[in-house]
Amino acid sequence: ASAIKRGLSSSASATPRMLNGRTLAPTVNHSGNAGMKILAVLYKGGEAAKQEPRLLGTVENQLGIRSWLESQGHEYIVTDDKEGPNSVFQQHIKDAEVLITTPFHPGYLTRELVDKAKNLKVCVTAGVGSDHIDLDAAVERDIQVLEVTGSNVTSVAEHVMMNILLLVRNFVPAHEMIERGEWRVSDIARNAFDLEGKVIGTLGAGRIGRLVLERLRPFNPKELLYYDYNPLPADAAAKVGARRVEDLKDFVSQCDIVTVNAPLHEGTKGLINADLLKHFKKGAYLVNTARGAICNTEDVAAALKSGQLNGYAGDVWDVQPAPKDHPWRYMKNPLGGGNGMTPHYSGTTLDAQARYAAGTKQILENYFQGKAQEPANIIVGVGKYESKSYGQR
Ligand code: NAI
Repeated sequence: ASAIKRGLSSSASATPRMLNGRTLAPTVNHSGNAGMKILAVLYKGGEAAKQEPRLLGTVENQLGIRSWLESQGHEYIVTDDKEGPNSVFQQHIKDAEVLITTPFHPGYLTRELVDKAKNLKVCVTAGVGSDHIDLDAAVERDIQVLEVTGSNVTSVAEHVMMNILLLVRNFVPAHEMIERGEWRVSDIARNAFDLEGKVIGTLGAGRIGRLVLERLRPFNPKELLYYDYNPLPADAAAKVGARRVEDLKDFVSQCDIVTVNAPLHEGTKGLINADLLKHFKKGAYLVNTARGAICNTEDVAAALKSGQLNGYAGDVWDVQPAPKDHPWRYMKNPLGGGNGMTPHYSGTTLDAQARYAAGTKQILENYFQGKAQEPANIIVGVGKYESKSYGQR
């Protein structure tokens, strides 16, 4: 058996595989080393993770796969130490075969680190969103990038709904007033509205964008819009009743509320900047649970301060963890509200963690056994992008 294992090719399998009549994307077989090094960069859970074993995506609970991996002879390194050349991440990436990361505490796999990672064959994102990996460099090196597609889309869509409602209804200042022991209804009501009758648009209408549109319908919006270079399939468009707007400035100028649900790539980085913000309706709301760097940090803070935006909410930041002096922590609209920022947690509810931990294990199992990966999970296959979500190529 070990001879057969050693014989497994480390490059793409030559013949396309079939599953239920579908042709599956090529997959990489593992190196054949029973004792391969698997490196995971996860966030620190501290006392919370000791008390709550369902916090699976933490350094302490290790996605629940340590004994499973070790029983197969693999070495499993888990860390949250990811910055700088002497960090555990940057030391062990040099000979790891598999890298597991999470968007919540991203181990940034830059091109420079890809060059150092001589043995790396597979990157698994425990969650959704693989922009912290230099995907072009992965393509060039035949490193597969896989994610647990769909694992937390409901979690994020629910968070988007919460963010929209808390901004429109001016919830955060109202709650803070209560904590201060005060009671001045007019100070809150002067900037509180109903969601009903508003025009709401999603920038990006993939899995999350579509779920958001579905969840918005019962609120009786005036209209639902979307902006995406991939049009919604006809059945999905009919189900959500959303109108596509093909020009971005035209799109934002029609929306009372914009929700961002596109991945971060070269076509979305800094897309929402001072120039585009000028085209938003005065006093519009912006919700971004996709990636912080899609919005220009300073430009958003200035737009909120001037009242061009009445609110900004989300859980994603251009650098994570966000530094203490990050302007998005403290920015406010002219009435002292309009900030719904949280740490990055919308896609890491306990329900989501159960799903992405199980999905990560399944991806690893497929890899160990040389089985094809689920096509929807393949962002970068062998030497090429498989996903159409990371820019038009
Ligand atoms: P998806 O791949 O199903 O959909 C993404 C959509 O964005 C696609 O329809 C794509 O065509 C569109 N898109 C890409 N570039 C665009 C552009 N320049 N303009 C307009 N549309 C564009 O991905 P899914 O599952 O909906 O997730 C979207 C993103 O949400 C992820 O890539 C990730 O960055 C973020 N996310 C955030 C989480 C959190 O915890 N805050 C958790 C999960 C995902």
